[in-house]
Amino acid sequence: MIRIPQVEYARRRAELMARMEPGSIAILPAAPLQLRNSDVEHTYRQDSDFQYLSGFPEPEAVLVLVPGREEGQYILFCRDRDPERELWDGRRAGQDGAVRDYGADDAFSIQAIDALLPSLMENRRRVYYAVGQDDGFDLRVLGWANQVRAKARQGVTAPREFVAIDQLLHPLRLRKSAAELEVMRYAAQVSARAHVRAMRASRAGLYEYQLEAELEYEFRKGGARLPAYGSIVAGGRNACILHYRENDAALNAGDLVLIDAGCEIDCYASDITRTFPVGGRFSPEQKAIYELVLEANLEACKHIAPGKRWNEAHDATVRVITGGLVKLGLLQGEVDALIESEAYKPFYMHRAGHWLGMDVHDVGDYKVNGEWRELEPGMCMTVEPGIYVAVDSPAVEPRWRGIGVRIEDDVVVTVDGCEILTGEVPKSVAAIEALMAATREHD
Ligand code: GLY
Ligand code: MN
Ligand code: MN
Repeated sequence: MIRIPQVEYARRRAELMARMEPGSIAILPAAPLQLRNSDVEHTYRQDSDFQYLSGFPEPEAVLVLVPGREEGQYILFCRDRDPERELWDGRRAGQDGAVRDYGADDAFSIQAIDALLPSLMENRRRVYYAVGQDDGFDLRVLGWANQVRAKARQGVTAPREFVAIDQLLHPLRLRKSAAELEVMRYAAQVSARAHVRAMRASRAGLYEYQLEAELEYEFRKGGARLPAYGSIVAGGRNACILHYRENDAALNAGDLVLIDAGCEIDCYASDITRTFPVGGRFSPEQKAIYELVLEANLEACKHIAPGKRWNEAHDATVRVITGGLVKLGLLQGEVDALIESEAYKPFYMHRAGHWLGMDVHDVGDYKVNGEWRELEPGMCMTVEPGIYVAVDSPAVEPRWRGIGVRIEDDVVVTVDGCEILTGEVPKSVAAIEALMAATREHD
C-alpha cells in the first residue's frame, strides 16, 4: 500500500532543524494509549506531529531533535523489546529497530528518559515542544530543565525559553509534498469508492448504519485502519444536524440522505460529503436546493488558486447561496444587503472549508498578520457548502423544511488553479440518478 517513504521523514526533520534557533532542542512525545475499559485499548492513532517527523507507529516514545549534536541529531526514546509483551500485544521496534528502520541516529529505552534527557538539554537555550497541550508533559519538561539548572555551578547553562513548536512545524505540514499528495489522492479514491458503494446500496427501509457499514467495508478494503472522523449518515431531517452521529434511523422513501465520511491512509485524511435521494430520484424541492449547493461548490473551486486568499472561496459560496435562496423564495430582499446582514446564516451556518491533511481539520493559520492567508501550491483544503432548512422554520413554506444538503470535495492548490481529489464520486443530479438507476435495474 502507498505510504510516506522514510527519506521523506528524514527531509522533514532536516527542514525543521534548519528552522530551529541555534542552540535549541525539540521534544515531541508519541500519543498515549487510550484505555477503552479495564485492559481494552482504543485503536492506536499516532500523534500527527510525532508521526510527521518520524513515521514511528508506537506509543510510549519521545522524539528528540538536537541540531548540531555530534553523536547524532535525531534521538528516539522507545519501548524495549519484550518477548512476553510482544507475544500478547504485538511487535515492537526496540532501539535497534528505531535506528535500523526509522533512521534514528541514536535510540534509548523510554525507561531511561528521565536519566538521559537533562543531559541533552545542557547548554541548549531554547526548548521547542507543544507547550500547554498536556499538563503531565509540561511538568516533565520543566522537571528535566530544573535538573540541568541544578548543575549551574558546574558551568552548565539550562534552557530559558520554552517555545511552542507549532509555529515552526505547522507551516511545514500546511504545504503538502508530492509524496503526501500521492497518499491523499489514494485516500480520496478509497473514500470515493465508499460513497459510490453507499449510493448503490441505498434503499428505503435500510438503516443509516447499514450505509455506514458499506462505507467502512470499502475503507478497510482499501487499507484504511480507521475513518478520519466519525462517519455521518443522516437521512431526511437528520441532515440538518451538522455533526449528526447516531446513524441509527431508518431511511425513508422520498428523503435525501447526507453522508459525510472519509478514510485515513497512513495518517492522512480524506473528507467527502455527498447527498442523494434514498430511493434514487430527487423531488423538485430537493433538486432545487441540491443544484444551488452544487453551484456554490463549483463556484468555490474557481476561487482556489495561488495568490487567491483563503476567504475568497467561502465568500463566493455565500454569494451563490444567498442569490439562489432569494430566487427560490426562501429569502426576501436585495442580495448585497442580505449578505451584509448575514441573512443566509440560518440556512448556511458553517464555513466553506478547512485545511485538510494529517488531521481532518488540519493545522495551519487561516490568517497571517491579520489578513486572510494567500493560497500557495500544495495547500490542501475542503470545499463544502451546504444548505439546511430547519424543520421548525416558520419563515419558509413547509415543502422546503427538513431538507439538508452538503457537497464536500477535497482539493489541492496547483501552480495555476486547483486539483479536485474527490472527483470520482458523482455529484450532478443526472450522474447520481443515473448511477442509482443502474443499480436498481440489476435488482
Ligand atoms: N466531517 C467534518 C467536516 O466536514 O468538517
Ligand atoms: Mn466532512
Ligand atoms: Mn470537512
